[in-house]
Amino acid sequence: METSALILKIKRYNPEKDPPRWTETFNVDTKKGMNLLEALLQIQDEQDPTLFFRYSCRGAVCGSCGMKVNGKLALACRTPVEGLLEETTLIEPLPFFPVIRDLIVDMSPLFEHFRKIEPYLHGKPVMPEREHIMTEEERKAVDPYIQCILCGICFGVCPAFNREALFFGPAILAKAFRFLLDPRDRRDKEILESVNHHQGVWGCNTVFQCVKVCPKEVPPTHAIVKMRRNILKYRLVSFFSRFSSLCRSSSK
Ligand code: FES
Repeated sequence: METSALILKIKRYNPEKDPPRWTETFNVDTKKGMNLLEALLQIQDEQDPTLFFRYSCRGAVCGSCGMKVNGKLALACRTPVEGLLEETTLIEPLPFFPVIRDLIVDMSPLFEHFRKIEPYLHGKPVMPEREHIMTEEERKAVDPYIQCILCGICFGVCPAFNREALFFGPAILAKAFRFLLDPRDRRDKEILESVNHHQGVWGCNTVFQCVKVCPKEVPPTHAIVKMRRNILKYRLVSFFSRFSSLCRSSSK
């Protein structure tokens, strides 16, 4: 079978030893159709069993193999090696998250923010006679946001998260919008309130970097802009209802 060499230079980190450093290069014999995750597994099997990286599904579902490849953020299991054969490929961990070891980062900031939006359906108080049925249009609206696999790649390009680790981050705001759109969820106002602050939708710089890099084509900035509009609409409605009740009471 025809093989070509892939040359990888990986940023390594062992907290018990040195600060993060670029190591020696690894040469991997590649096969047609091979992806970067398979190349890393081959290095771990045949050259350096101490190389740390995270993966699980191998199919762009679990979101655990995000990393920087030649300066761009990508899922290793979705990155074909064919495009990397020309010159040495630089591999680094995801930026903006603390590095635990080699390519493994601590994603607890992402999951802490995720918990804040209570990411599960809050059913309506009255159960329908049969199951909750969504229309095709309702499902189509939710679909782009359901695709998010919480890989953290969007955090790695987000200037707001880089500036302020308390910023919820693009993926989390996209998830909040997913529940806002879901007609089976009883929360509307509560979801908007949970993101109505500068660590939520108002902290976003709307530079659309997250939309560009998402490996699942989720558009978080669109969600953020739409939630901002909904919040402003709520504010206007409540202002006019307070104003009209004030007018009514003063005319009595
Ligand atoms: S291994 Fe699951 S997304 Fe790559």
